[in-house]
Amino acid sequence: MSKGIKTEYDPRPVGVFDSGFGGVSFLRNALIELPSERFIYFGDNKNAPYGDRSEEEILCLAENAAESLVDRGVKTLVVACNTATSAAINVLRERLSVPVVSVEPAIKPACRLPGGGKVLMLATLATTRLSRYRALQARMPDPSRIINVGCPGIVDRIEKGEIGETAFDDILSERLGFLEGAVIDGIVLGCTHFPFIAPAISRYASMHFKGEHRLFDGNAGTARQLKRVLESEGLSADPAVSPAPRTVFLTSGDKEALEPIFDMLLKVPISY
Ligand code: DGL
Repeated sequence: MSKGIKTEYDPRPVGVFDSGFGGVSFLRNALIELPSERFIYFGDNKNAPYGDRSEEEILCLAENAAESLVDRGVKTLVVACNTATSAAINVLRERLSVPVVSVEPAIKPACRLPGGGKVLMLATLATTRLSRYRALQARMPDPSRIINVGCPGIVDRIEKGEIGETAFDDILSERLGFLEGAVIDGIVLGCTHFPFIAPAISRYASMHFKGEHRLFDGNAGTARQLKRVLESEGLSADPAVSPAPRTVFLTSGDKEALEPIFDMLLKVPISY
């Protein structure tokens, strides 16, 4: 073998999991970033939302989901769920036999925004309360710039395929009403379900906040991290092969009823 020329590739799929459909927003980025990879997606839809559960429950569910994917022979696991990352990432990294990559709220780039306004971090109740996220916030140059808001109720609707621009006004007003008129430079979508309702969040922000309120999510950064891990561990698929199909959908819920929502979310336009 000539030095520096790689001759062996790993055709096994990458496993991606979330409490439900949120991880599909990550999967979309991963499919673009890694065009030769195949993915097995597991949505724990039967047990969603995770965000209203205790840390112990989330840990237990995340372990079961992760192990079911490892049992299917995935070469790397992506925890595409900020809530599961907060509750379980250390245990998963310790116990699993494959590398584990995870999403986290993208507060770092948001905190780099110029301006004297606040950064709003929207996530599940569990993420905003758990110590892992709190420690991440404490590492920011000015942690007090970030306002954390847990938004229960949003995930339940997205799980049913509801993503309309006006379909979340009631929850957003209830959770964000106390910020009426505030200057918000950035909004971090700290739950992987939330990119699907970016238009609803932007619309609410334009009507009720001052400032630019730019949106951020951690998906593109996590897809790049996945690429780095596959390369450094010698796990990349052959770039000369274009695999088909690229994705397999598995769920703890009713697959027949849920797969059309998975397919819709994989394709629906998202831009911000
Ligand atoms: N999509 C998930 C996250 O990123 C979890 C949503 C939930 O199940 O509550 O936190």
